[in-house]
Amino acid sequence: MTEFEGGTMIHPSDSEESASATRTHQDAWDRLDSIADTEEQWIDGQASYLRSLMVGEDDRLGRIGSGVQYVVYALPGDRVFKVSQTRMSARNEYKRQGGDEIEVGEILRLREEGADYVRKLVSENPESSGLFGNPVFNGESGTAGAFEQDMLTFIEGDSFNALPVSEQTDYIHKYIEVIKSMWSYGCSDRSMNFQVNTGLDSEGNVVLADFGEMDVTKANTLKTIQDGRWNNAWGIRVLSEEVQSIAIGMFESELTEAKLDELWAKNLK
Ligand SMILES: Nc1ncnc2c1ncn2[C@@H]1O[C@H](COP(=O)(O)OP(=O)(O)O)[C@@H](O)[C@H]1O
Ligand SMILES: [Mg+2]
Repeated sequence: MTEFEGGTMIHPSDSEESASATRTHQDAWDRLDSIADTEEQWIDGQASYLRSLMVGEDDRLGRIGSGVQYVVYALPGDRVFKVSQTRMSARNEYKRQGGDEIEVGEILRLREEGADYVRKLVSENPESSGLFGNPVFNGESGTAGAFEQDMLTFIEGDSFNALPVSEQTDYIHKYIEVIKSMWSYGCSDRSMNFQVNTGLDSEGNVVLADFGEMDVTKANTLKTIQDGRWNNAWGIRVLSEEVQSIAIGMFESELTEAKLDELWAKNLK
C-alpha cells in the first residue's frame, strides 16, 4: 500500500454560513434530545443526521476534518464526532489525495480492524482510553460505524515544519512514547504520519486520533519495525532533512525488537 495523506482541515470560510450550519445542527440535537431514550440511540440519530448532510459538494459544511476513512465534525464540550466514509466517498477522497482506488478496500478493512481493536481495548482496559482520545463507539461496523472522541489540536503540514527543531523532535519523541504505550496494550500505530493522525489534548499529551493504520499483532508490529517503515512514510518524508534524520535515528533506537519483547501486551487485562 502506498502512503496516503491522512486528512485535510476544512474550515467553512463564510461565517454566516457557519453560523446557520451551527443553528441547523443545534435544532437536530434538540430534536434528538427529545426523542432518544438511550445514549446509543442519541449517537445513532446523530450519525444518520450527519450522514444525511453528506450530499455532493455542499456536504463539507460543518466538517473540521476528513480522511479516507472518516469525516470529522465538532461537537459541543470539546468533543468530535467521526462518521465512517461510505465506500464511494472514501474512494473519492483517496483519489483526491492522488491514491489508487484499488487500495480503498484494504484501507476500509484497516479502519474496521483498528476500530474493533480499540473498542474492545478501552472496554477491557479503561485506563488506556486517554491514549486514543477517550473514544465512545456507537457499536456499529462498516459504513454505519461512528464514534465520539476528544477534540484535539493538530499541528499539520507546514505548521509542523515551522516549529523550532527542538519542538518538532519533542513531538516526535512523544509520538514514539505513544507507540510504546500501545505496544503494552498489544497494538501499534504503523502510519508514522503523526502530523495528521495524532493531536494534542488539553494537557499537551500526544493522542492517537486515527485508529485506521494500526498493527494489532506482534508479528505485524515486528515486520513494521524490521521494514523500518519510518524510512519512507509520508509523515517523515515531508520533514526537513535535518529533522528527518534526527527522527529516523530516534525511531531506530527506540522501536527495537528488544523493546517490543519487553513491552508487548504487558498491560493487557
Ligand atoms: N479528535 C480530533 N480533534 C480534532 N480534529 C480531528 C480529530 N480527529 C481527526 N481530526 C481531523 O480530521 C482528520 C481526519 O481524521 P482521521 O481520524 O485521521 O481520519 P482518517 O482515518 O479518515 O484519516 C485529521 O487529520 C484531523 O485533521
Ligand atoms: Mg488520518
